[in-house]
Amino acid sequence: MIDLQRNFEMEKKDITILGIESSCDETAAAVVRNGREVLSNIISSQIEIHTVYGGVVPEIASRKHLEKIDDVVRMALEEAHCTYEDLDAIAVTYGPGLVGALLVGVAEAKALAFSLNKPLVGVHHIEGHVSANYIENKDLEPPFACLIVSGGHTHLVVVEDYGKFEIAGRSRDDAAGEAFDKVARAVGLGYPGGPKVDKASKGGNPAAIQFPRGIVADNPYDFSFSGIKSAVLNYINKARMTGEEINIPDLCASFQEAVADSLVSRAINLCRERGFRKLAIAGGVASNSRIRARMQEACDEHHITFYRPSPILCTDNAAMIGCAGYYEFLRGRRDGYELNACPNLKLGER
Ligand code: KG4
Ligand code: ZN
Repeated sequence: MIDLQRNFEMEKKDITILGIESSCDETAAAVVRNGREVLSNIISSQIEIHTVYGGVVPEIASRKHLEKIDDVVRMALEEAHCTYEDLDAIAVTYGPGLVGALLVGVAEAKALAFSLNKPLVGVHHIEGHVSANYIENKDLEPPFACLIVSGGHTHLVVVEDYGKFEIAGRSRDDAAGEAFDKVARAVGLGYPGGPKVDKASKGGNPAAIQFPRGIVADNPYDFSFSGIKSAVLNYINKARMTGEEINIPDLCASFQEAVADSLVSRAINLCRERGFRKLAIAGGVASNSRIRARMQEACDEHHITFYRPSPILCTDNAAMIGCAGYYEFLRGRRDGYELNACPNLKLGER
């Protein structure tokens, strides 16, 4: 790994990568130098459009990506004061995600790579989320433990090396973000659920309602959120039937606490049992204020250094793809023009 970097540095000092991300509802492009220096990070969010429907509509997402992608790439280059010629490679998310949405980014990246005659590097979206931690923590290097919590994934992993993961635990049912989104909908907060529950919980009592913590019998690092979610839905239905008023801040704070307990306990146990002194967090749910605070407290108590990207780098963005793309590029990954969108790409799969 380091040797690869040295070899490259002898030929050319800086490596500049254009990252492209379009796996869900953000059209994003970024220019990243040497993996950790973000020269630009442009995100065009579709949230307002999908809010009307209460969730992401895949066909609309693809169409909007198509409308925006050229402008977003142009803006990323402009803001970075770069020309196409300055780029060393084009990195793009090719999975997992919505197939039609992914295809727009992949087609854009292939067209750029072909016309500019530059290397094309396919990036795993979740590897991108993990890599967001490298951007603001220049000294962070594997190995470390990482909790990935997004709208589609909940994984507790050991980052053994750049792009190399051992999956210690995962959700058996809903992803953490999915549980946030479903609870928000049930309470009437709407889409996007996570940030709304986070905001609504402020001033609420996290101990007001006892929701289950989702213990999984045969793997201490696996998660389950469907039980917590069902308990919240039952609570709401029961209150409605009996005409009881629901205290939304208390309900949101109590739900969030159950999720936080479940995430914090497993992540800390993994660090303690495997001797990791570094714990990182990644994905959209990692921007949750209560989860960040609880994880920080627990890490301080157990003398573990806690790494968490700024909220803007937790949710979908292309800077993380440029960063992950850089390490994949150094490892020698090069994709051909047959690169396709892989909606169900597993972590560690190529
Ligand atoms: O990583 P991400 O932007 O997209 C995926 O790859 O899925 O994550 C989106 C998820 C959504 O479920 C959203 O509700 C959740 O992250 N999220 C949050 C917060 N901000 C976003 N969940 C809890 N608290 C937040 N502040
Ligand atoms: Zn994501």
